Parts: sequence; structure tokens; C-alpha cells
Amino acid sequence: MNSRYDEAFARSMADPEGFWAEAAEDIVWTRRWDRVRDDSNPPFTRWFAGGELNTCYNAVDRHVDEGRGDQAALIYDSPVTGQVRQFTYAELRDTVATFAGALGDQGVTKGDRVLIYMPMIPEAAVAMLACARIGAIHSVVFGGFAPQELATRINDAKPVCIVSASCGIEPSRVIEYKPLVDKALELSEHKPASSIVLQRPMAKAPMVEGRDVDWAEAVAAARPADCVPVKATDPLYVLYTSGTTGIPKGVVRDNGGHAVALKWSMRYVYGIEPGEVYWAASDVGWVVGHSYIVYAPLLHGCTTILFEGKPVGTPDAGVFWRVIEQHKVVALFTAPTAFRAIRQQDPAGEFLRKYDLSNFRMLFLAGERADPDTIQWAERQLEVPVLDHWWQTETGWAIGANCVGLGLEPIKYGSPTKAVPGYDIQVLDAEGRELPRGDIGAIAIRLPLPPGSLPTLWNNDEGFLKAYLNAYPGYYNTGDAGYIDEDGYLFIMARTDDIINVAGHRLSTGGMEEVLASHPDVAECAVIGVGDSLKGQVPVGFVVLSAGVDRPEAEVTRELVGLVREKIGPVAAFKTVTVVKRLPKTRSGKILRATMRKIADSEEWRMPATIDDPAVLGEIETVLKTVGYAGGKA
Ligand code: COA
Ligand code: AMP
Repeated sequence: MNSRYDEAFARSMADPEGFWAEAAEDIVWTRRWDRVRDDSNPPFTRWFAGGELNTCYNAVDRHVDEGRGDQAALIYDSPVTGQVRQFTYAELRDTVATFAGALGDQGVTKGDRVLIYMPMIPEAAVAMLACARIGAIHSVVFGGFAPQELATRINDAKPVCIVSASCGIEPSRVIEYKPLVDKALELSEHKPASSIVLQRPMAKAPMVEGRDVDWAEAVAAARPADCVPVKATDPLYVLYTSGTTGIPKGVVRDNGGHAVALKWSMRYVYGIEPGEVYWAASDVGWVVGHSYIVYAPLLHGCTTILFEGKPVGTPDAGVFWRVIEQHKVVALFTAPTAFRAIRQQDPAGEFLRKYDLSNFRMLFLAGERADPDTIQWAERQLEVPVLDHWWQTETGWAIGANCVGLGLEPIKYGSPTKAVPGYDIQVLDAEGRELPRGDIGAIAIRLPLPPGSLPTLWNNDEGFLKAYLNAYPGYYNTGDAGYIDEDGYLFIMARTDDIINVAGHRLSTGGMEEVLASHPDVAECAVIGVGDSLKGQVPVGFVVLSAGVDRPEAEVTRELVGLVREKIGPVAAFKTVTVVKRLPKTRSGKILRATMRKIADSEEWRMPATIDDPAVLGEIETVLKTVGYAGGKA
């Protein structure tokens, strides 16, 4: 063994139960588990079966009981409204307990679902923790999704209550959230009995008599609720994420394994100690927000920052450095896109030099491929380790990382470093055979998954097996492709499905194709993700119009752009769609999306042997050039 990392990793493989039982000692349990790992229903695994705890108690009350009551638990920093507000652990406990009481007054009890659709305001975290407190299951939906997407999630989660706010604030405009919720409720089959609405001063939401309750009034009338013990294996939340179709998958997170893994990750993956200030610049609507804005830093007794703003334009490219200085942040976690945006506006780092970053120790990047150029720029500017790490909504915490708390490993650009303890990562060929080091294949995790990773999909065990376990029996299929080098470093190269990452936001091109296909003038379509210097990837659509359509193409494409925005939401960043005469296909009729993407990104490509008509790819290349891809200029 040559490092603490090697030792920890080896132990997590040889004695997973001992490894995780030891980590679980850091959590307060109301009933100890019967079995650390329960494999009695293969291939499903449950961690800490028989154990009981409350996640909110561990994230909030516990720290008050143990003497951190006066320490800042959460700092809300909002350059878009000019506010900074701080909650100590004692204040957070009281606020959460009262809102938990308000939820109870709306009839929410243990096991009920509560859908949260809110901007980046402290009440979003309060609502999540309040659900955890009473054993209700939250499902947070990102604000950039449209009513249709919200309705799909309402139908699947069947919440008894929706918690929302009157508006969110984007740099360019105030977005009224409540009308979006109302529209979603019109579209959904399931109708929640109640809805709690936080009125923000920038936009007052119209209230529906008998259904909508004002947050302030609900809280004023409520009595604080206590923490309710739940089973370790009970769901804490459901978070929907893009899958290979337009139907999102409800990733389930349980209480016990989640608390254990996240608390462990703060010290060993991120090298953070209780009492330190940790900032994940993401959104509570994404998994990064769930895990590293809300739960992990609080479980670890840290101060977390909830930032309502953007890396640039709120007001400038120095805002991240201002927040780091002002709140003495020791580690920042964000998506590479944020750094590409800052770099575009401040290539020489002039803003950076205005601030004192002496407390700042580490930058963590995840959510999309971290291009070496951006990493090296950030290293030069910040003069601290810049650490890429790889994970997904499904796992809830890092699969591959440079675990600084176990000793920093040498950095290899383009690699998120090595498997995190608990994850037995293998690269497989098409038949599911483990490939030797250096060979490219599907990246899979040998079962069982460690604590914290999804035990199943919401009300859909079959879907879980189909989406993740059936492809390679005995393994969880990550959907990513890549390789592991001789030194055990991971290289994540591409998705094996239709998922793309736009500004760190996970989207399905299949979902966008479904929307395009629903337009009456569209006969056939394809959407691919092409490289973008800011957002990493952006979607580009191609449509073949139905015979007899005799309208200006520009009119149809404008409608299509509007339709994707209306059905999926602005977050899809779907701005480019072109009309083509035909799509390139194999002789069996499969659209050659991968080849189209290579042409768009000016990568080397080969004419597929199975192509039906080679001339079509030439036509596509010409079209791509006219919209600024494939080496062309828009
Ligand atoms: N509610 C409503 N609309 C939202 C929204 C929200 N919470 N978040 C984004 N949108 C809208 C934006 O206003 C934008 O709309 P537009 O097309 O009218 O301009 C659209 O969705 C796309 O937003 P975004 O992807 O944020 O792009 P942007 O051009 O506004 O900003 C960046 C670009 C790079 C500054 C921004 O993407 C960013 O900060 N990225 C950081 C990465 C990140 O946080 N990733 C999360 C996972 S870790
Ligand atoms: P999400 O579920 O939104 O977190 O997206 C997960 C997907 O984003 C992964 O399956 C990868 O495809 C991609 N991803 C996340 N982190 C990284 C990373 N560090 N490097 C490369 N791809 C990443």
C-alpha cells in the first residue's frame, strides 16, 4: 500500500460492511441497524436495514445539541436582490421546525411527497429540510423547466402539497414561477390538495382561493414540529433526471445510506472539517444542490452558501471571488461552464486580484467534462488545486475523484482521478466482459453500489433494472464510456446514450426530438449535442418537413425553437434547428447521429459501412457549416 487512498479503497472493497459501519458511527441513529448491507433481494441492495434516524436532526438539530447553535449554518448571498442573510444552526432549526409544522397543517405526513419548485432562496432549503424532519419525501424541480415537465413530475410523484415562490430572478428578467405552477396543475392528472406560495416582493403571485396558502401566513399559524424517526431505507427524496426518452427517471435517495455517505465524503473526498465554509455554486434543483448545498455541508456541521446569482453579469465576473472573500469560503464546487464564462469575461484574472482569497484552498469541478485548458487557467489564476470529479444524479456523490482528505494524488489533466472508496469501477466490452487497462468501453460499477447511491427508481423497480442493471448483469451501467489507465486513473469520454450536458445541465436529445416530432409540419427529426466553447455542449436540431408543407422555413424553425422552450424549458438552450431534405441513415433506417456529431465538431469521422446514401452526410455538413459548425462560420 503506498497511500492512505490505496488503503481506504482496498478496505472498502475487502470489507465494505466494516468500512461503512465505521462511517455510520458519525451519524446519530435512533435505532441501530440490524444489517449493514442487506442483499436478501438481489440485485437490489439496502444499506443499514433495520436502522432508524432522522436526516434533518443530523443536519440541523444535532449541531445545536452539540454546541454549534451560534455558528452560521447557511448564508444566503443574493447579488440579484442585493441581500445577504445568515441563519445560525439554532435559527435554521427553529425556521425548519416551524415550516415542518406548517406542512403538517396542510395534511403532509410521513411518506407523503412534497414537490418544491423554487428559486435559489433559503426557503427552498428550509422546505427540503422540513420534509426530512417529518419524514415526507421531497421532490425538487429545477426552475428552468417548463410547466409540461413539471406536470410529468407531478403525475409521477403524486405530491400532496406543492411549495413554490412567486418568482425567480434571472439577470435579464424576473421569472414568475407561480403561473408556471398553475399551468402545470392544469396539465397534470394528479392534483395536489394544497400549495404553499412564498410571496417575493419583486412579483406578487395570484392565489387560488381554497388551495393556495401564503408561506408567511402558514408559518405564522404553525407550531414547530419535532423530528420523526424514519427507516434508514425510507426515501428521503425523489429527484427526476433525464433518461433515454422524454420521460424523466425518479431517482430515489434513502435516508440512512445517504447521510452516511455524504458525511463521509465531506472529510475524505473534499478534505473539509466541521465549522469550515463550503460553497457549491449550483442550484437546489440539481443533485449537486441537494447533496452539496443542502445535505452534506450541514450533516458535517459546516457553513453552506446558497448563492442566487450567476458567475458573470451579477454584477460582474468577480462575484465568485467577492463571495469567497466575504464569507471566508475554503472550497468551491461548481461546473466547468462557470469557469469558462468567467474566463471569457476576465481572461487575465483582473477581477480576481481585487479580492483576498487567503482562506481558499480548493476548487472542485463536476457535472460535465472538465477541459484541461479551463482547469489549467483556473490553476494559474487561483494557485490552489483544481480537482475534477465525476458522478451523476443516480449516485448522489462522487464515483471518481481525487480524494484530498485521503491525501492528494498527482493530477492528470482530463481525468477525474481514481475510483472513490466504495465504487468498484470496471470498463466493459459489448458482451459485458471486463476490459484490460487502457481499453475503451462502457463504464460500469460492479454491484453492489455503495451507500448513498440510488436503491431504485420511484415506484419503478422494473424501470431501474431496465435502465441500469440489465445491460450488464452484475453491474450498474453508468451510461458513460471511457477507460482506466495503467495507474488506475479514469477517463470519462462520452455518453453511450442520448444525454447531453448543456452548461452542466443534463438533458435528453430524445426528449427534444419528441417535441420537434409533435409539430404538424415535421416528418422526421434528429437532435445532436455539439461542442460549445461556453456551455460545453448545445443541442442542434435537424428536421425534414412533411410533404406539401409550403411555408417559409424560417417560420417553421422559429416555431420549433419556441416549442422546445415551451415544452421543456429555457434550460434546454435549444436555439438552432435547420430544415434538411433528408437525414443520414443506415440501410436499416437508424439515424446516424454519432457521425453527424463528429462532423459538427470537426472531428475525424469515417463513412459508416451500413450507410444508405453517402451523399446525405455531405448535405448535412454543408448545412452545419452555414450555422457555424463543422468548421464553418455562422
Ligand atoms: N429558472 C428559470 N429560468 C432559468 C433558470 C431558473 N432557475 N436557470 C436558467 N434559466 C434560463 C436562463 O434565463 C436562460 O434563459 P434564456 O434562454 O432566456 O437566456 C436559460 O434558462 C439557459 O440558462 P443557463 O444555462 O443558466 O445559461 P445562461 O446563458 O443564462 O448562463 C452560465 C450561462 C454559464 C453563466 C450559466 O449556465 C451558469 O452559471 N452555469 C454554471 C453551471 C451550473 O450551475 N451548473 C449546474 C450543475 S453543477
Ligand atoms: P448529472 O446526473 O446531471 O450529474 O449528470 C451526470 C453525467 O454528467 C455523467 O454521467 C457524465 O456524463 C457527466 N459528468 C459529470 N461529471 C463529469 C466529469 N467530471 N467529467 C466528465 N463527465 C462528467
